[in-house]
Amino acid sequence: MLPEQQDILWTFLAITFTVFALYVFVNVVKHCREREDVNTTLWGGVFGAFLVVMFLETSAMFDMTQGEQLGYFFSKMGLTIFLLLLTWGIFFKSEKIENQSPPIIRGFFWWTVISVLLAGYTNWLPQQRSDPPPKASAIVGDITMEEYAEMGRIIIFGAKQVAGQKAIGKGQCPLCHTFAAGDNIGRCPNLFGIDERGATRVKEDKYMNEPVKVGETEPASGIVKGAPDQIPDEYRREGAGGHDSMTSEDYIRESMMCPTCYVVKGFGGPGDKKSPMPVISKPPVSLSPIEVNAVIAWLQSRETPGDYSRITVPLPSDQPIEEASAEEAPIFVTGAEPIDQMINTLGCPLCHTIPGIEGAVGELGPKLHEKINAPQRIKDPRYKGKATNTKEYVRESILDPSAFLVFNETAGELYPDGLMPQGFKNQISVEALDKIVDFISQTEG
Ligand code: HEC
Ligand code: HEC
Repeated sequence: MLPEQQDILWTFLAITFTVFALYVFVNVVKHCREREDVNTTLWGGVFGAFLVVMFLETSAMFDMTQGEQLGYFFSKMGLTIFLLLLTWGIFFKSEKIENQSPPIIRGFFWWTVISVLLAGYTNWLPQQRSDPPPKASAIVGDITMEEYAEMGRIIIFGAKQVAGQKAIGKGQCPLCHTFAAGDNIGRCPNLFGIDERGATRVKEDKYMNEPVKVGETEPASGIVKGAPDQIPDEYRREGAGGHDSMTSEDYIRESMMCPTCYVVKGFGGPGDKKSPMPVISKPPVSLSPIEVNAVIAWLQSRETPGDYSRITVPLPSDQPIEEASAEEAPIFVTGAEPIDQMINTLGCPLCHTIPGIEGAVGELGPKLHEKINAPQRIKDPRYKGKATNTKEYVRESILDPSAFLVFNETAGELYPDGLMPQGFKNQISVEALDKIVDFISQTEG
């Protein structure tokens, strides 16, 4: 394994000191050859042993994180280097080799040379490598469970909140879900109490058999249902087993990675065959394994403030974590972005199928075929809005979704009021609204 860029400093020093040990070994053997009265085997053996130890210590450092390397270098390696210099001095003294600068001076000289080399090398490094400079906000290694759950909260609700705007982060969950007890907007389950509910859901008959059976692969996500031991390694819970040992953690993770593995009653269209929830680990939401687990940590701990003992996800250990969205600004589109980027940023594709936008196959709201639909809506006897043409209708639908509720043919009832977020007017500039309205007014099947 090659060291990461950030680990290069200590690895580099360790390697140069191994080269130094080699130099000392050669130097000692040379002196032994020149002088017949010296015990070559003894001194050769001693300094050969130093060389081997240095080599082993250096290769041990390759598998460490930078923090561990630092400690290791100054304790174990530092001691070896010190003993090497000391023994070298003893060798010169006991064998009465004169005209030698003391080992400590040589060691110091060596240190200076490699420091200069290293400074030059690290200056040259970033220009040679094309990867971006490491993010200042990256947390490496140890964070506490409290911080991890907070990271999950930010993924769900965003870091900064603006008055009058629905709090929403990159996970997009609040577009559809509610989280407070008793707060139900319709088409998506309230996630209050999910940690307890998850553990019992996996034991239901319905879980065993619908819409796919435990042990079968769910096609849309490619996940084997009820088999935490078969999900990709990066997501896996430590000690994950099969269906018998499933915990609520496994259920929540499966709900995110394979929404159709289990469809909550009444939320998946006729017969509850297919979940309208997007696969969270795939585009457009694309949460990483660390982010998925952070969301689970928050869901597991939110009902017991200050008590994190219910959390069962493993803390991320040695991978660098990009602090999800501490810097993330509230969602806003200016109108300068390309049209598909504007629509994706606002999250419309999570609920709508939109012709012309790649991956926009959401099913919670009507298909946006507005070139045809809008004129029909305006003629509908139920229509009480102010629009007189397609563009006005689309604009009104975005700024005031409750102005008219579309009839859902498959469900045989109106789409629920309040499911389409009311707050888009705060997230969008006049220019962006014009462009989105123009685009959506042209869409057809
Ligand atoms: C586009 C709307 C939408 C988004 C965005 C969404 N969900 Fe869902 N989610 C649903 C729907 C609809 C269901 C119910 C159908 C089902 O069981 O899959 C559901 C079900 C769930 C369940 C199972 C609930 C239960 O009672 O068993 C969990 C857990 C869940 N979602 C978590 C999340 C999390 C976490 C996020 C954000 C990372 C998220 N969802 C984003 C629509 C959404
Ligand atoms: C959480 C799900 C959700 C999101 C996100 C969402 N919508 Fe909707 N949308 C709905 C639902 C449900 C309806 C139907 C009920 C209604 O009219 O309020 C609807 C209706 C509409 C209509 C009227 C459709 C018709 O045929 O009459 C338009 C236009 C529309 N949405 C555009 C958008 C745009 C643009 C965005 C993104 C800025 C967006 N929606 C985001 C759920 C959503």
